[in-house]
Amino acid sequence: MVVRVTDIREWDADRPITMLTAYDTPTARIVDEAGIDMILVGDSVGNTMLGYENTLPVTIEQMMSHTSAVARGAENALVIADMPFLSYGASRADAIEHCGRMLKEANAAAIKLESGPHTVELTEELTNLGIPVQAHLGLTPQHEHQLGGLARQGTRTSAAEQIIELSSAHETAGAFSLVLEHVPANLAERITNELEIPTIGIGAGTHCDGQVLVVNDVIGLSERAAPFSAQFGEVGAEMRRAIDRYRDAVVQGEYPGEEHSHVEPDLFES
Ligand code: KIV
Repeated sequence: MVVRVTDIREWDADRPITMLTAYDTPTARIVDEAGIDMILVGDSVGNTMLGYENTLPVTIEQMMSHTSAVARGAENALVIADMPFLSYGASRADAIEHCGRMLKEANAAAIKLESGPHTVELTEELTNLGIPVQAHLGLTPQHEHQLGGLARQGTRTSAAEQIIELSSAHETAGAFSLVLEHVPANLAERITNELEIPTIGIGAGTHCDGQVLVVNDVIGLSERAAPFSAQFGEVGAEMRRAIDRYRDAVVQGEYPGEEHSHVEPDLFES
């Protein structure tokens, strides 16, 4: 069944919402076929796939390319494009143009903004224009320099209260769901109880309405995974085994075999 923004906003199934990142067509196809509800084309593509130290260098053009690749592989899951660092927040017109391109050109169904006081009005404006917004509070990795790293957020009462206020402000502004990253479980529980829209947790405990992780961490293809992440497979080890076997087969003259090539009769008999 095709998952729409309205299904997520008014989630009434008696199970948690599932969300996972993907960055390319074959992975999106597998994630989609597994019945995952939402696929996030995260700006985590920067560190997971593009070899950057963090997400800050990721550009709009890179996100457009990865988002359209994912959209080509997803038939049912809701595809959400993560807006990269400084593609929003500096100029209202640029932000609207960049977010709009994710729907118009890259075929996303919604966008995600790493949120704060600066994204409340923008969320309302985008929502009114028909661009569904998923908000993201708690640890927002695009602020890693300002935060002094990627530490847990909302651990003091005043910081927790600010996250609660911003959650509610983004719901009022029209966000259809809220990602809560690396915050105490009891803070996520309180926000989940107070909001109508669903919360999607990552390192935020068991009380959220859904969960999201980075696909590379889940399948075992990450060099460094976040402490709250979990690995459910060994894809990296399997890739290494396959590539070693290919190398050995070529070196030992076992590949290609006769069945992998053909001889054209009469090629040199004119
Ligand atoms: O970029 C990303 O993958 C994310 C998730 C971790 C929520 O923002």
